[in-house]
Amino acid sequence: MKPVKVLFVCLGNICRSPTAHGIFRSFVREQGLHAEILVDSAGTSGWHIGSPPDQRSAAAAAKRGYDLSDLRGRQVGASDFLEYDYILAMDSNNLSALKAMKPSYYEGTLSLFLDFAENNDVRDVPDPYYGGVKGFDKVLDLVEDGCAGLLAHIRQNR
Ligand code: 4NP
Repeated sequence: MKPVKVLFVCLGNICRSPTAHGIFRSFVREQGLHAEILVDSAGTSGWHIGSPPDQRSAAAAAKRGYDLSDLRGRQVGASDFLEYDYILAMDSNNLSALKAMKPSYYEGTLSLFLDFAENNDVRDVPDPYYGGVKGFDKVLDLVEDGCAGLLAHIRQNR
């Protein structure tokens, strides 16, 4: 069977989407599904192309056992709509930017990542970039919830 491909998208691709990338691939590996579910992340902006995740995101993730150190920023592009079955926006601004790029032939799922969360009513992962340390822990809480729900959804639907 063809692998399911998942792309997480935020603005900079150095805080929220690499966090989702690192957590989701960790869940996928734990469940032995790494050959069946492929994961990547990207930013709607090109501001941090080639950059590692923000140190505050990497530190918050490492405290919970997720290693983000190999990830590098890239910008989402038209070819991603040919590749990815799920393109998941971390907030509604990211979703609007992605909808504006979406080609008419795209038949995958373009939605808010937190639509898959089961334990939160929040639908936007708040941008932590200009805030304090607490904001990065909040991102982790929301992203763990969303990733658990997303993995359950993919397992049920494939
Ligand atoms: P992210 O956070 O979209 O979660 O990666 C941001 C990273 C960088 C900037 C804004 C948000 N920035 O303004 O450079």
